[in-house]
Amino acid sequence: MTAPRNETATDVDSVRVDLGARGYDILVGAGLLAAAGHYIRPLLRHPRVVVITDSNVAPLYLAAVETALGEADIECTAITLPAGEQTKDFAHLEALAEDLLAGKVGRDTTLVALGGGVIGDLAGFAAAITMRGMDFVQIPTTLLAQVDSAVGGKTGINTRHGKNLVGAFHQPRLVLSDIATLDTLPERELVAGYAEVVKYGLIRDAAFFRWLETNGLRLCGGDTEARRHAVAACCAAKAAIVAEDEREAGRRALLNLGHTFGHALEAQSGFGDTLLHGEAVAIGMVLAFELSARLGLCRPADTERVRRHLSEVGLPVGLRGPADRSWSADGLLVHMARDKKVLGGKLGLVLVRGIGEAFVTHDVDAQDMAAVLDAALGA
Ligand code: NAD
Ligand code: GLY
Repeated sequence: MTAPRNETATDVDSVRVDLGARGYDILVGAGLLAAAGHYIRPLLRHPRVVVITDSNVAPLYLAAVETALGEADIECTAITLPAGEQTKDFAHLEALAEDLLAGKVGRDTTLVALGGGVIGDLAGFAAAITMRGMDFVQIPTTLLAQVDSAVGGKTGINTRHGKNLVGAFHQPRLVLSDIATLDTLPERELVAGYAEVVKYGLIRDAAFFRWLETNGLRLCGGDTEARRHAVAACCAAKAAIVAEDEREAGRRALLNLGHTFGHALEAQSGFGDTLLHGEAVAIGMVLAFELSARLGLCRPADTERVRRHLSEVGLPVGLRGPADRSWSADGLLVHMARDKKVLGGKLGLVLVRGIGEAFVTHDVDAQDMAAVLDAALGA
């Protein structure tokens, strides 16, 4: 795509998610919101969109997006939902679908998800099921959403049984990542999203992890170039995996490094403020390295290196902070057993042979997992 004449963005990186007719571009740059109409207009079947956003993002960015869409002669209405993980549930999904239908959306109306992973997952799922499928565009405004959740088409909600257990694969038509929006993100949220950035280095790119060891603090501190480079690099890594394995029949499961532990920690802490998703993933990745070291798969020095880097940027790396007396290895294992990656009763886990060498296994003894959790809980 060429930039519009009134483009305020300076440098724009473009990454293609190569899924044939369902393929799409991810654009990464500072100032892209102002050009949203230019980029979205050619993709629309009918020049009408509904922007779905949350109560924190709306006052910051909704007007800018509405103006940009208006400049491209796109009719636009907006729905603002309460901010927070609790919004990603059946009740809000139902209300959203009813609101869309009350607003008389057609199958040719496009939904625009403006916000973090909560809005992207919920709006994407609403797009997947309302009118049996509507087009949608992701405008992610958190680091986590820009490097992970907005890319790859996983949409869904949480249930009382766990995270993301109801959902659909539904690819967006475009991902517009304006890294300038990260400037207003609370530091804790930015750092939590950074855990997903580190994940890409740990999965299969040791050189990227080394780059992060040098540049991570600069990135978290607000350096635009470091942010653009990292977001584009993560999107390229994820796009390659998704193009190869869209529905997680194999390789895509690597993206769950730290997530099986992490989801259990989130469930145990009640999906609230005790542990943000990225923070739970950071602890989960350390646990995955500890378990790998215990099984003789990787060197304890690798675990230390991961722990050091995550700590350096301010991420939690152990359970003693978030855990209270009600937490136990057995309780966490119950949550883990509910994971989507349980196949034939066997839990799928991502383990490592070193930094950048992750692999999936269904062959881990529960006793080893319990031992690692007990040690982390200080039991
Ligand atoms: P989030 O959407 O709750 O956003 C975090 C907070 O930041 C919210 O309070 C939000 O209102 C606020 N916010 C968003 N953008 C802002 C901005 N630019 N300035 C100021 N405040 C802003 O959380 P998240 O961390 O973006 O996403 C977490 C969710 O993503 C979880 O539900 C997780 O399961 C999901 N996820 C999905 C995938 C996937 O592949 N679909 C991958 C990873 C995570
Ligand atoms: N965040 C994991 C995935 O998209 O597959």
